[in-house]
Amino acid sequence: MAHLISPSILTADFSNLEKVIRMLNKSEADWIHIDVMDGVFVPNISFGFQVIKTIKKYSKKPLDVHLMIVEPDKYLSAFRDTGADILNVHYEACVHLHRTVSEIRNLGMKPAVTINPHTPVSVLKNILPYIDMVLIMTVNPGFGGQSFILESYRKIAELKNMIEEGAFNVMIEVDGGIDLKNAATLIQTGVDVLVAGNTVFSSRNPAETISRLKHIM
Ligand code: DX5
Ligand code: ZN
Repeated sequence: MAHLISPSILTADFSNLEKVIRMLNKSEADWIHIDVMDGVFVPNISFGFQVIKTIKKYSKKPLDVHLMIVEPDKYLSAFRDTGADILNVHYEACVHLHRTVSEIRNLGMKPAVTINPHTPVSVLKNILPYIDMVLIMTVNPGFGGQSFILESYRKIAELKNMIEEGAFNVMIEVDGGIDLKNAATLIQTGVDVLVAGNTVFSSRNPAETISRLKHIM
């Protein structure tokens, strides 16, 4: 399967969100990555339901929502109502992860589990049959524009093996510090979805950068 691109709008120009979404609609982006931060799970606050609803209003692409919040169970149906298609919850934020991902699926969204850089992929062994994607954080979550953590390559390779051995239908997404230099190695290591914030939105021509990321082999 060709890899997918999910541009993170965290570093986009919020003074004209409609223009950003129209650009993404026309681009080769597959999804739109939306980072929700609560100031508790991560040391930053981003945006909430109203902003996601506005994005949904204009978007022709699926919304890949990444929850960096504590107690995500309280808000699953609210995120469904904003128009989330894929809902990523952090392993570190969920005490009853199986219940959480089952509820996400029951609500009609695709469940995905995210792990922080310090969390080993081995903890995912018994949840893989129930989810559609694992999001491996390749920076500590909270901010755009950080440097990719090199140890992530080993984690991706290990997860890829686990998925193949179990013949699970689970995609691997990476998020943080993805650029035009490391994208090829990431894809070769087994990544299915690249999230890119700074690389896309700090470039002169975001649509062209998305295209370049999409055509990397
Ligand atoms: C970080 C967020 C990322 C962020 C990525 O906590 O989860 O999605 O926007 O930004 P870059 O691509 O700039 O590292
Ligand atoms: Zn993210």
